[in-house]
Amino acid sequence: MGQITVTGRGRRRLLRGHPWIYADDVNSGEGEPGELLPVFAPEGGPLGWGLFSSESKICVRLVTRSAKQPDRGFWLERVRAAVELRAGEGLLEPEGACRLIAADADGIPGLVVDRYADVLVLQSGGQASDRMMAFLEELVLEVLPFEIRAILDRSESSVRKHEGLDPRVEWRRGSAPTERIEVVEQGPGMERLVYGVDVEHGHKTGHYLDQRMNRAEAARYARGKRVLDVFSYDGLFAIRAALAGASEVVAIDQSEAAGERLLENARCNGVADRVRFERAKAMDDLRRRVEDGESWDVVVLDPPAFARSKREVDGAVRGYRELNRRGMSLVSPGGLVVSASCSHNVDRQTFTKALADGARAAGPDSEAAGREARIVRFTGASPDHPVLANLPETDYLKCAFVRVGR
Ligand SMILES: C[S@@+](CC[C@H](N)C(=O)[O-])C[C@H]1O[C@@H](n2cnc3c(N)ncnc32)[C@H](O)[C@@H]1O
Repeated sequence: MGQITVTGRGRRRLLRGHPWIYADDVNSGEGEPGELLPVFAPEGGPLGWGLFSSESKICVRLVTRSAKQPDRGFWLERVRAAVELRAGEGLLEPEGACRLIAADADGIPGLVVDRYADVLVLQSGGQASDRMMAFLEELVLEVLPFEIRAILDRSESSVRKHEGLDPRVEWRRGSAPTERIEVVEQGPGMERLVYGVDVEHGHKTGHYLDQRMNRAEAARYARGKRVLDVFSYDGLFAIRAALAGASEVVAIDQSEAAGERLLENARCNGVADRVRFERAKAMDDLRRRVEDGESWDVVVLDPPAFARSKREVDGAVRGYRELNRRGMSLVSPGGLVVSASCSHNVDRQTFTKALADGARAAGPDSEAAGREARIVRFTGASPDHPVLANLPETDYLKCAFVRVGR
């Protein structure tokens, strides 16, 4: 078995609470790709155990600060805690969906497990989660309180490149479902909603589970209102708004496949008469709507991540400013912009500044006198995507509910 000795800086970083050891902070040591290794301070004292990557700049992800080597019982406890957290949030009903394991945020670096009714989708983003996948899968099946029909491994995200790993998509149990996978989403204060998931070809593992609570929250403002859902994907902001009584909903996305699923979802929920899909590039479409003098009661802005690295932050901030300028220009006085950012490199303060700058430059007319923006709620992801307090990188989703004045 290998081992790692960190530098003084590496030790200080670990003692401050962050669980990652960067390659620059390793004094000596080596291991097999993905191996679980003991970690030592420069003068030899034990600092815990972590998962090693031979390729990534993040050389070790600490999983325990105990000197005791993690065994099967340790990992079973991790998986059980993750599943119990979802059960406690009311997310384990058999027909529902949730993120069961959120990688580092659940103390299981690299592994995401999403559940859509009785189908699991696994995503491994690292050498260690690749190495441990079969073992962790067995533990998940042991802990889950219901039968799983099929398991898809969709380990194809771009982070795998940093780990020297190729993409991989394969069915580990069962096979591609011949019928669409249907999920029922409901909860306290939430209308029952049914949606289809394409786990093989849809974005992420098939769906944006992280926005569940924000969609329910946005729907509270929608009764009798006209709602524009920009970057709609398969339309759950739009459909939730329609179910809550919105008079008209237009959903915009560039993806034709997402639009087809959106229309099918609208039909299944009996709101097809009030939900329209328009396939378009969002920025151009918003510019045209502002020029045409359109006015909406609620505008949802949920773009893909604008900054995938620290280097992209300045450009991303300009993007958020401009997107929100256009969104706020379209809202009638007293209306609401629901504005999200899933770029973890853009923190809450920076995102708030982009919202403020967007408001200052917003219409409604060509004189762009600016609009007042009041944030009435500032939320994150749904509770099945927890934020590990000592790992700010897990705090990626921000969602501001902004009342826009004159
Ligand atoms: C974060 S997802 C939206 C998730 C969705 N709001 C939900 O609650 O499930 C971003 C969406 O933006 C779409 N998209 C990306 N670039 C776009 C563009 N330039 N114009 C329109 N849609 C775009 C993607 O197809 C994707 O569906």
